[in-house]
Amino acid sequence: MPGTMITMPLARREELEAGYHVLWFDAPEPIEAQAGQFAMVRAADWGSTPLLPRPMSLLTAGREPSVLIKVVGEGTRLMGGAAVGNPYTFLAPLGTPWRVPEPNEETLLVAGGVGVAPLIYLARELRGAGLARERIHVLYGGRTVRDLPLSEQLDELGRLRVTTEDGSRGTEGRVTLVVAEELERRRADGIATRVYTCGPHGMMAAVAKLAADHGFPCEASLEAPMGCGYGVCLGCAVSKSEGGYLYCCVDGPCVDAATIDWTGRVF
Ligand SMILES: Cc1cc2nc3c(=O)[nH]c(=O)nc-3n(C[C@H](O)[C@H](O)[C@H](O)COP(=O)(O)OP(=O)(O)OC[C@H]3O[C@@H](n4cnc5c(N)ncnc54)[C@H](O)[C@@H]3O)c2cc1C
Ligand code: FES
Repeated sequence: MPGTMITMPLARREELEAGYHVLWFDAPEPIEAQAGQFAMVRAADWGSTPLLPRPMSLLTAGREPSVLIKVVGEGTRLMGGAAVGNPYTFLAPLGTPWRVPEPNEETLLVAGGVGVAPLIYLARELRGAGLARERIHVLYGGRTVRDLPLSEQLDELGRLRVTTEDGSRGTEGRVTLVVAEELERRRADGIATRVYTCGPHGMMAAVAKLAADHGFPCEASLEAPMGCGYGVCLGCAVSKSEGGYLYCCVDGPCVDAATIDWTGRVF
C-alpha cells in the first residue's frame, strides 16, 4: 500500500462561508508530500457509515497537515462538524503531484471553488522554489463571493483575478471567459505558460480545451470518486483520449490534461 496510515487528532477547524471548512491535524510525524498529492481521510468514530475514507487534496502537509472541505454529502458533513481532539486517519501522501514548470515558463493557475486547495499548495511551493509572485497568475472562479474560499492566500502568493457568476465579486461570468482572454494575450505576446487547473469537471474540460487550442501545456487535477485510493478497487477509472482508462488514484490525480477524454466518463 502506498502512503502511510497515520491517526491523529483534529487540532483546529475553521468554518468559512457557504459550507467550506479548513481542518488542521496534529501529526505525530511529518507527512512528506508534494503539491497536488492527496490523502484518504476518515474519522475513527464514523463506525460503518460512511464506510469508505474520502479523498481530499492536501492543503498543507508536514506536522500540521490540513484539508479544505466543502460539505456535499455525509462524509464531508461529518468533517464539517468535527470537534477538536476527534481522531482522524489519513492514508497519505497518495497519487501523482503536479509537474513543475520549465524554467522559462510562467504559470497560470485556474481554480474553481474547492479545487483551489492543491493550487494553493502548488503556488506556495513555486514561491518557495524562488518563482516571483509576478510569474504566478491565478484565475479563481466561484458562483458567488461566498464560493471563493481562501482567496486571500492566493492573493498573497500570486497575481489573483477572481470571477463570480452573479458578479458579487470580481468579473461577472464564468472563469473560463477570462481564461480565454488571458491565453489569447499570452499567445499574442509569446509568453511561455504552463496552465494548472482544478475544479468542477466542466470547468477543467473547458480549460483543457482552451489551453490546447492556444498551444499551451495544461495540467489538471482530477476528482473521481474513489474507494481505496491506491489502485486496488478500480473504482476511479477516467477515460483517456487515446482510448481505455487511467486510474485517478495512481495515474493521477495530477495529469497532462491532453491525455484525458473530457467527453468520457463524467465524475
Ligand atoms: C484526488 C481528490 C481530491 C479531492 N480534494 C477535495 C478537497 O480538497 N476538498 C473537497 O471538499 N473535496 C475534495 N474532493 C472531493 C471529495 O472527495 C468528495 O466531495 C467527497 O468524497 C464527498 O464525500 P461525501 O460523503 O461528503 O459525499 P457523498 O455522499 O459521497 O456524495 C455526495 C454528492 O457529492 C458527489 N461527489 C462525490 N465525490 C465527488 C467528487 N470526487 N467530485 C464531485 N462530486 C462528488 C456525489 O456524486 C454526490 O452527489 C477530492 C476528490 C478527489 C478524488
Ligand atoms: S480508488 Fe481504488 S483503484 Fe483508484
